[in-house]
Amino acid sequence: MSTPPPDTELEQLELDLFVEALKRRHGHDFSQYARASLMRRVRQLVHDHHCSSISALTAQLLHEPDFVIQVVQGLSVPVSEMFRDPAVFRALREQVLPILASYPQINIWQAGCAHGQEAYSLAILLEEEGLYERSHIFATDFNPDALQRAREGIYPAKDAQQWSRNYLEAGGSLSLASYYSARYDFIRLHERLRRNITFANHNLVVDKVFCEAHLVLCRNVLIYFSNPLQNRTLTLFRDSLVRGGHLCLGLRETLDFAPVAVDFTAVDPKLRLYRRSSQPTSGNRDESP
Ligand SMILES: C[S@@+](CC[C@H](N)C(=O)[O-])C[C@H]1O[C@@H](n2cnc3c(N)ncnc32)[C@H](O)[C@@H]1O
Repeated sequence: MSTPPPDTELEQLELDLFVEALKRRHGHDFSQYARASLMRRVRQLVHDHHCSSISALTAQLLHEPDFVIQVVQGLSVPVSEMFRDPAVFRALREQVLPILASYPQINIWQAGCAHGQEAYSLAILLEEEGLYERSHIFATDFNPDALQRAREGIYPAKDAQQWSRNYLEAGGSLSLASYYSARYDFIRLHERLRRNITFANHNLVVDKVFCEAHLVLCRNVLIYFSNPLQNRTLTLFRDSLVRGGHLCLGLRETLDFAPVAVDFTAVDPKLRLYRRSSQPTSGNRDESP
């Protein structure tokens, strides 16, 4: 009789079956997500839903159609902040917006928008620099619940203090409070900030280029992806950007090892701010004679 595999191996097998069930039964493909962080989140789901194992979670996923909503919610980590990493938003304000100002119409794609905090931060930057009227922000995520919350623009008041500090560090000259009304334990961002934002469902694993963009901001999403999926996503961003357009990634993410790196120059490598080359390079989609 052969000896059973150690628990970790068994758990890896259970994770494979869970991912397969999620894909075949519900059409959500997590097979190219970074394995260790996916395992952590699946274990958390097992705990939160009082399941005895990943297999028990899989059984629930297969037999209870609505359960998938909670599973996707648990795997998506829609955690964000307004003006998160203020130095990045300061660099966008001081180095990128003056360049965007030369376009008659400015398109920004913010991928992995979570509850919308970064999209609203961009709207504030654009408004303060006098560019919002001719800008459009396409803020996308694959988590429908997160998108709904993003559209509402309502957040816990306890977060406002930190976000106000971020705003000032990012070069804000007013008070963040001038952009929201506070009620009980919540703040509600002013309706006018939403006027040029479209929140839309887009899945970076399967969907195509979303729009022609002058700036793509996708922060703290690639860290959850395996290398091939990171490469797919970065190619999508390259193809979405106009020549000379900017790309902004999360501080723990990089373009350096991706094949599309040849199509970009680093504007501020520490802040993960890049610019698509204005000259065609080999492999570019729209290389013309
Ligand atoms: C940690 S949040 C980052 C939020 C924000 N960009 C920030 O840096 O504060 C990651 C977001 O990526 C989204 N996400 C994960 N996989 C995705 C995919 N395949 N397509 C689109 N969005 C995805 C999640 O739903 C989540 O809202």
